[in-house]
Amino acid sequence: MIPVNNNYQKLPGSYLFAEVARRVKAYKQQNPDADVISLGIGDVTRPLCLVIIEAMQSAVAEMGKSETFRGYGPDFGYDFLVNAIRENDYKAHGVELEFDEVFISDGAKSDTGNFQELFGEECRVAVPNPVYPVYVDTNAMAGRAGTYDENSASWSRLTYLPCLEENGFVPELPKEKVDVIYLCYPNNPTGTVLTRFQLKKFVDYALENECVILYDAAYRAFVNNPDVPVTIYEIEGAKKVAVEFNSYSKTAGFTGTRCGYCVVPHSVMGAGEDGTPVSLNAMWKRRQSTKFNGVNYVVQRGAAAVYSPEGKKQTQEAIDFYLKNAMYIRESLKKLGLTVFGGTDAPYVWVKVPDGENSWGFFDKLLNECKVVCTPGSGFGSCGEGFIRLTAFNTYEKTVEACRRISEMPR
Ligand code: MLT
Repeated sequence: MIPVNNNYQKLPGSYLFAEVARRVKAYKQQNPDADVISLGIGDVTRPLCLVIIEAMQSAVAEMGKSETFRGYGPDFGYDFLVNAIRENDYKAHGVELEFDEVFISDGAKSDTGNFQELFGEECRVAVPNPVYPVYVDTNAMAGRAGTYDENSASWSRLTYLPCLEENGFVPELPKEKVDVIYLCYPNNPTGTVLTRFQLKKFVDYALENECVILYDAAYRAFVNNPDVPVTIYEIEGAKKVAVEFNSYSKTAGFTGTRCGYCVVPHSVMGAGEDGTPVSLNAMWKRRQSTKFNGVNYVVQRGAAAVYSPEGKKQTQEAIDFYLKNAMYIRESLKKLGLTVFGGTDAPYVWVKVPDGENSWGFFDKLLNECKVVCTPGSGFGSCGEGFIRLTAFNTYEKTVEACRRISEMPR
């Protein structure tokens, strides 16, 4: 038998959303007629906007004619999409990016999971707690996280930045020297945001301590608050220390279509063996051109349609729709006396479970008594214990019905 990567053996249980899906499947097998409503995984429900469908249809037609057929695309994305991103997602916010600083991909999960490959195994990684589990698990798979302790639900070599009710879910700066800091804002799972002022502290810290911030901005389209940046590059100096990840999954309903991008500025550097600066942009180019063959032409045409005037209007309607659901969840649960956070600039509402319950216990209760699926906060880290996450991505009718069932739950 061949030796395996033993780091995989250190991973606790299964991936969070796989475990949620397993429990829901088991419930449905025992209760085949139950009308289960999912406010669990952040998966969108609205169909793709018409303008995106039309763009993809005409791209499909192009692929059927010899004059317009395309084979392999450029490794890092077609010009039309890269330039639309530079213009709309950055220049419109005062940020100039060079063409080869943008890399089209199949979404933020792959990019945030893969980017750690560029770092040495000895790198010290800081993650907020709670956190999107991909950042932690992929570092653990690479042998960078140390060993997992079931009791404290933590890894020995990760630096945790607690996001608690007491600090408004704003993590403190690391107290020890770290090399990499993951941040996701608007935040998954808590649905909270960082103001420019709060984010600047992290950028300044990274500049002073020569570390890299991996900034997941997958939920940027949900930002309403003018004090909240939509890209980390709005903060002075961030181009020297930050890599940013984006996705069309939540912005434009691409969870099943798959497209996103990441920005790796030329000025973000790591250190080679002898301490000489090494460009992360050059390393990422090398990594992507070796391991990834790009996103298909049809999907990139669909993504580019998001930036047309009609595309902006239609995608904004979808974002507003989900934010209305988030507001409905917030207000309904508040009326029940529950404490809720997030949901104003993000599609997630973070709910404190009633006294005496834990996250998975409340998950089971919601499933069994209300037929409503949530995501247990403890699945995102020890500081998520005592909370659950609800998503705003279902239909309005199902969101209202889920809240009604929760309001009737015996307490
Ligand atoms: C979530 O529910 O946290 C996300 O949908 C997961 C993901 O984007 O991979």
